[in-house]
Order: sequence, then C-alpha cells, then structure tokens
Amino acid sequence: MTVDFMRKKVAILGAGKVGATTAQRLAYTESCDILLWDRTEGVAKGIALDIKESSPLDGFDSEVEGTSDIKEIKKSEIIIMTAGAPRKEGQSRDDLLKTNAAIVKDLSVQIKRYSPDSKLIVLTNPLDAMVYLAKQTTGFPRERIMGMAGILDSARFRTFISDALKVSVSSVNGMVLGGHGDFMVPLPKHSSVNGIPITDLLTGDEIKKIVQRTRDGGAEIINLEKKSSAYYAPASSLALMAESILKDKKMVLPCAAYLNGEYGIKGIFMGVPVIIGEKGVEKIIELDLTKQESQQLKESSAKIHELIKQFDRIYK
Ligand code: 2OP
Repeated sequence: MTVDFMRKKVAILGAGKVGATTAQRLAYTESCDILLWDRTEGVAKGIALDIKESSPLDGFDSEVEGTSDIKEIKKSEIIIMTAGAPRKEGQSRDDLLKTNAAIVKDLSVQIKRYSPDSKLIVLTNPLDAMVYLAKQTTGFPRERIMGMAGILDSARFRTFISDALKVSVSSVNGMVLGGHGDFMVPLPKHSSVNGIPITDLLTGDEIKKIVQRTRDGGAEIINLEKKSSAYYAPASSLALMAESILKDKKMVLPCAAYLNGEYGIKGIFMGVPVIIGEKGVEKIIELDLTKQESQQLKESSAKIHELIKQFDRIYK
C-alpha cells in the first residue's frame, strides 16, 4: 500500500502515547497530512483510524494514516522520532541510553535510505545523546536535525511561574537552556511577565523552588502517574516545532541544536534558542549570559559529552 497525501507529509515514528498525541495535535492544525508508523503491525493503523474518525467531530481535513512499513516514510517533509522505551519510575533519562540507541540508530538508517531530504525532530531519551546519534547516522546537515526538549522544559517553567504569580500563562515568557536532564539551565533573568523580569516579581527563594521543580518536571509526572511518563506537554511541544517549520513561522524556540562554537561549545547538541522555519534550524541565537549561567551551561555540556562518550563503548 502506498499512501497518497495532498498536503506536506509528516511522519511520526513510534505510536506510543507521545506519537499518537502528536499525530492528533498536528491533525488539528491542518498544516500537513500525517503518517504514523509503528513496528507492531496494526497499532499505528488502529490509532490513525481512530484519529481520522474524530475528524467530522473536531472539524479537520488532514489525512491520518498508519503503517508498519518503514518505506512509507518516503518524501516526508518532517520526520518526528518518538520511538523508544519511555522513562520509568526511578530511572533517569540517561538509563535509557543503550536500549534506545539501538532503536534510534536502526530508524536513522531507514530515514537516510527512504527520506534523505526531510527535516528530523528527535524526542527519544536521553534526548541530547539520541539526536547526536541520529545526526551521526543520517549525516543530515545541522539545519535539518534538531531535538525537542527546551520547549517542554520552558513550558513547565512558565506553568510554575504563572501558578506562583496567579497571572495568565500566556503572559509568561520563560527560557530553559542546556541538556534535557538534571543539569538543564532555567534562565530567570531571561524570563518575564509581559516584559517585566520575574526577578522583580518573585523572591530569590521562590525562583529557586520553581527552577528545581522545572528540573524535576519529568520525574514529578512519572512519580504521580507510575505507569507512564509525560506525553501531553511533550506532544504539544513537538507539534509546535513542526508547525513552525510547515508554516515557516520562524518562531524563536529553545531546541536542541548542533553547536559549532556557539556559546563556546562544539560538536554536541544542546538546548539553545533557535529560529525554526521552513529550512529547519535557521539561526542559533546567542544570549548574553551571566558568569553563573555560562558556567551552568558548560557543566550541562560536560554531562552531554560524558553521555555520548558511551557510544564509543557501544559501537567500537
Ligand atoms: C519528560 O521530561 C520523560 O523527558 C521526559 O517528561
């Protein structure tokens, strides 16, 4: 079976909770047609059909199809990689490295073979290492490969700021840089309520608590839900990145981008503010950081270097 789409095609690899929710979110935007792939026969097809059958009710015309045939990803505008084992209670994101590396590597080979001109967004954890592995395997230029993490971490930061100040979350801007792990770097100085720095509105102690809760955001949800890690906010984050590419919106979003000397860091992916447009990562924005923030970013990058060194052991 070959799926014929009229709109630009977005392929989502992995029909777990994040993949399925991203497909639904993207269908609502009508900015693309969606192919949901999963290796387990029937799973992606069933979920896609379920989403499609909601279209008369939710009022969207995007196509949503499922497949277990990886060749169907050909000519995708964007590929979103969500496949892999999710984080479980008591596990760090880094504990998933070996299991998920095999999956990401295998799929990256298929992406290179069947859809070599697409833009690739990686979500699989540990994110900063998985997106690095996907780049090594596909050989995609850095404009066309990026990781989703900073948008999610920033959304959590914004949610907690809005709760603390009892103001609309739509008035809150927040920025979280660095790796998607315990060493992520929330930036209070670059976070504001409609331009008013949060450092003028919250005490140092209040900010410290919000920063820590943001760092623990993923674990907080796993500890509550037990059976699942987060998927609503991750799916909304992925859909936003895809939409910015599909509509060439040029949104400024914190994403894991391949650094080539920006922020004094080279040869790894890390969360930084980027302009996302039809070409993918169109520009990396370098913020003026305090000494302490720069130091934290360096520490975060050292952790990512440590993580990707493990690939030398796995693939030697
Ligand atoms: C999260 O932050 C598990 O990385 C995922 O929710």
